[in-house]
Amino acid sequence: MKIIAINGSPRKNKNTITLLNKALEGAKSQGSEIELINLYDLKYRGCISCFACKRKNGEHGRCAMKDDLTHVLEKLKTADAIIFGSPIYNMNITSGMSALLERFIFSNVIYSTEIPTVYPRKIQSGFIYTMGITEKYMEDTGYKLILKPHQDFISMVLGNPIKLLYSYDTYQFTDYEKYESSMFSEKEKAKHRDEQFPIDCQKAFDMGVSLAINV
Ligand SMILES: Cc1cc2nc3c(=O)[nH]c(=O)nc-3n(C[C@H](O)[C@H](O)[C@H](O)COP(=O)(O)O)c2cc1C
Repeated sequence: MKIIAINGSPRKNKNTITLLNKALEGAKSQGSEIELINLYDLKYRGCISCFACKRKNGEHGRCAMKDDLTHVLEKLKTADAIIFGSPIYNMNITSGMSALLERFIFSNVIYSTEIPTVYPRKIQSGFIYTMGITEKYMEDTGYKLILKPHQDFISMVLGNPIKLLYSYDTYQFTDYEKYESSMFSEKEKAKHRDEQFPIDCQKAFDMGVSLAINV
């Protein structure tokens, strides 16, 4: 049983990766082999619309682009569950995660009315989001609707509904005094980090357990 997490944050010591590592810990507690991939260590581009993956006699399910993402996309086919993680940038997932999803999703669908996915197996998945806004702001603005299309595509490709975790109001800097941050109350942010973030970590751990036991 192998569970792969993909970190779509350029930061390798902050909120998103912390939650992804908790999810992997949960999966490991159930005996899973685990791996974390940091997208921002890699050099790659999004889909270039070559349509090699859609050719009638072509290799469906394989992205023809050759760069650092090539081996990642191949490795994902060996996973029994995948956990995606991304901060919210400009109200959406990061460009690194978006480029990965363009290639992962598009290479695994063909323009067929009968075949929804050419992904080799049905597997479980999860998506962990971290963001500066509060839960109330997210609910009030309908922010979640922006994130639904890629969630639906992942569910379709992998053949199972995706599990979701949103972590709000994250603590962004190590030292707020160094930055212009009058929009936030550092005290409130620190309170949220101390009280809510550990709960989010537990939810991430539980997601990992749940993905592992439902393989
Ligand atoms: C370029 C950029 C854009 C951002 N845009 C948003 C945004 O639109 N909405 C939001 O809630 N947070 C936004 N944030 C804050 C991050 O989503 C938040 O701090 C997140 O937890 C960072 O994840 P990390 O700690 O794993 O890097 C933005 C941060 C950056 C660097």
